[in-house]
Amino acid sequence: MKRIAILFSGEGTNMQTLIQKLHPDRVSIVATITNNPKAKGITRSQALGIEPIIIDHREFESRKSFDTKLVQVLKNLNLDLVVLAGFMRILSPVFTTQIKAINIHPSLLPAHKGANAIQKSYESSDRYAGVTTHFVTEELDSGNIIMQKRFEKQGMDFEAFETMIHQCEYEIFAPSVLKALEIL
Ligand code: GAR
Repeated sequence: MKRIAILFSGEGTNMQTLIQKLHPDRVSIVATITNNPKAKGITRSQALGIEPIIIDHREFESRKSFDTKLVQVLKNLNLDLVVLAGFMRILSPVFTTQIKAINIHPSLLPAHKGANAIQKSYESSDRYAGVTTHFVTEELDSGNIIMQKRFEKQGMDFEAFETMIHQCEYEIFAPSVLKALEIL
């Protein structure tokens, strides 16, 4: 059985969906990890029987020292893949050169990289919006694409748009994990 860990920072709904769809039949989710002790996702993970590991980035003096700790914890778990599910930290080469990871991003990359992508995509004049899963590299939101799902955004208000983005995420994330693990 392939072993993965999921990293999150906030709501954790993508993490929740991955646990529900994959664990424990398809993939063993051996840990969930957050940098945010107040993340709402903590209770979502607990409710599904996985006690999250909390590594508060504010307790570290630099990005590099936080990443060093994170890499050490991940390496000890003996993983096949790390999955970033709304993990809102920019990762340094300490992480990207040592850990095989994938990420989900709420836009049709390469459009709208970085923070506030849902807002940026909603406000753009693009005909289509959507979501992307991709491998993590040193350059933010730029690694090889695993899957995308798009929709026509014409006439939607922001709330409907955001709901559609999350629905697309929940649809492609689990198959993307299996694809990255080469078991789909
Ligand atoms: C998701 O929409 C995810 O795509 C986005 O954060 C949200 C997390 O929601 N990630 C990024 O913007 C990464 N740059 P969740 O905590 O409910 O899964």
